Amino acid sequence: MNATMQHLEASLQQKRELIEAALREELPGRDTYPEVLFESIHYSLFDGGKRLRPILVLAAAEAVGGKLETVLPVACALECIHTYSLIHDDLPSIDNHAYRRGKLANHRKFGPATALLTGDALQSLAFEVLTHPRHAATVNPERLLQVVYEVAQAVGPQGMVGGQVVDTISDLFQEDLKTLEYIHHHKTGALIEVSVRAGALLSDAAEEQIEQLGRYARALGLAFQIVDDILDVVGQAEELGKPVGEDEKLSKMTYPALLGLEQSRRLAQQLGQEALETLRGFGPMAETLRGLAHYVVARTH
Ligand code: IPE
Ligand code: IPE
Ligand code: MG
Ligand code: MG
Ligand code: MG
Repeated sequence: MNATMQHLEASLQQKRELIEAALREELPGRDTYPEVLFESIHYSLFDGGKRLRPILVLAAAEAVGGKLETVLPVACALECIHTYSLIHDDLPSIDNHAYRRGKLANHRKFGPATALLTGDALQSLAFEVLTHPRHAATVNPERLLQVVYEVAQAVGPQGMVGGQVVDTISDLFQEDLKTLEYIHHHKTGALIEVSVRAGALLSDAAEEQIEQLGRYARALGLAFQIVDDILDVVGQAEELGKPVGEDEKLSKMTYPALLGLEQSRRLAQQLGQEALETLRGFGPMAETLRGLAHYVVARTH
């Protein structure tokens, strides 16, 4: 491992530890009534996720000179929303996946009714954590309101849920790149983009910086989902912690299905480069964001 990689690994590890501790602090314990619900929330939320979205929140704050502690609540909130999206995505009525994060998917363990409601609960919990008076008092109230608005928009009908709907009603026989791009930008990109913007917004970054970071994240988000599609073809289920080959089984419209593996890889690399270029005006504090642009393209899980 070279020095840059070591630096990135150390930074990711530091951020992951902060996030794990904050999540445990922010969320009610698994023995809270109704226990089955909190058991299910803890089951899906802990042990297994890469924590990319909360890491992006922290890395964006760092890039603009903000304090990591200040943005931990929004980081936790976005990981709750992401986890809800995974639980629902795996349901029999959507992708019907049996495994997630290296263990049985939530609905396989707790049943589809509890899985559905666990997703709902995680979405509400996210907004509870994000607006908790204890945290709200520590940030600029106008910026917090802006973040609440942007998060709601990013994960709603014109964001993540919109993307998921078009994903479920489309198939690869349409061969429609415009629709595919819409799906990926919305089902995955929107949450990634708002993670970066929220980290910067709550760190009182200047408008221009926030806008630049948003462009970084837009390219990164699309690259991330293209690589997710590629890994469904060439990845290892044990390493990914979820099944592979499922997109083809479901005739999903994906980048490898429409463009082939080589062109998909090239496009992901190009987007990684594009993300890096948007960080040109940033100094050494943006090193983790730069490292993540490499990591997202080169990752094997
Ligand atoms: C999986 O996201 C779903 C997509 C949006 C591609 P991740 O690959 O970030 O999943 P975890 O959080 O590491 O489990
Ligand atoms: C999931 O995309 C996107 C969301 C959960 C919003 P995928 O369906 O490709 O994710 P995986 O491959 O199941 O993780
Ligand atoms: Mg899906
Ligand atoms: Mg899926
Ligand atoms: Mg996938």
